[in-house]
Amino acid sequence: MLVSAKEMLEKAKAEHYAVGQFNINNLEWTKSILLTAEELKSPVILGVSEGAGKYMAGYKTVVGMVNGMMEGLGITVPVALHLDHGSYEGCLQCVEAGFSSIMFDGSHYPIEENIEKTKELVKIANDHGMSIEAEVGSIGGEEDGVIGRGECADPDECKAIADLGVTMLAAGIGNIHGKYPDNWEGLSFDTLAAVNEKVGDMPLVLHGGTGIPEDMIKKAISLGVSKINVNTECQLSFADATRKYIEAGKDLEGKGFDPRKLLAPGADAIKATVKEKMELFGSVGKA
Ligand code: 13P
Repeated sequence: MLVSAKEMLEKAKAEHYAVGQFNINNLEWTKSILLTAEELKSPVILGVSEGAGKYMAGYKTVVGMVNGMMEGLGITVPVALHLDHGSYEGCLQCVEAGFSSIMFDGSHYPIEENIEKTKELVKIANDHGMSIEAEVGSIGGEEDGVIGRGECADPDECKAIADLGVTMLAAGIGNIHGKYPDNWEGLSFDTLAAVNEKVGDMPLVLHGGTGIPEDMIKKAISLGVSKINVNTECQLSFADATRKYIEAGKDLEGKGFDPRKLLAPGADAIKATVKEKMELFGSVGKA
């Protein structure tokens, strides 16, 4: 059964590790992530952007697939199904469809409006026993049409949003979706420390997990980050392994064109990336 992300993230914050949110795109992604979490006895969050939800034929399809797969694969570790960078409408649709967690990204609104809309959704999420993530400042770059300028969060605004009773808070700290440019200045640990001080026990979320050096990940966890989002890195691993299979002409050997064979190296590559991240984040054995 899907669970709210609240308990797993509060435990992570208290014990100084982070739970990975891995974004899903299709059946192969979902299966690879769930199997790895089960093998490593790690809690996990499946992230679904609005674009990915649409691609998978709607949120109800996603809920049906994930629930069916958890039963079919005998998954016993805690799994949260979470809307990533949701609009107000998207959040309502995911509550209706049976997600166990939502993110309302009101970071592009003036702070008063972000507070107002987040407050309404906190009540709805609470009524349904779901976890809810909010965002202050913004994540740079672009993810599935969501574009951010990457401004660092104001710690007082973070406190105002945290006080609404959200489960977890994404604060912009110089992080960027997608690959980091060569001239990236790194994470702003001063901002993170100031935000963490203001919000106390509230789990903090680090978006843009792809390509952040290990030492920065560890430092971020030590300063209160307890959920780290990874999307692009699984996409790159999948594409790389699939390209190698095709370039080696394996799809032309025997029944190598069978999608179950053609997509297998990519699926295995996602598993390897997820394993590497779970080990780095410290969530192995925490289920
Ligand atoms: P990356 O694509 O950079 O890993 O970011 C993922 C993310 O933050 C999802 O919200």
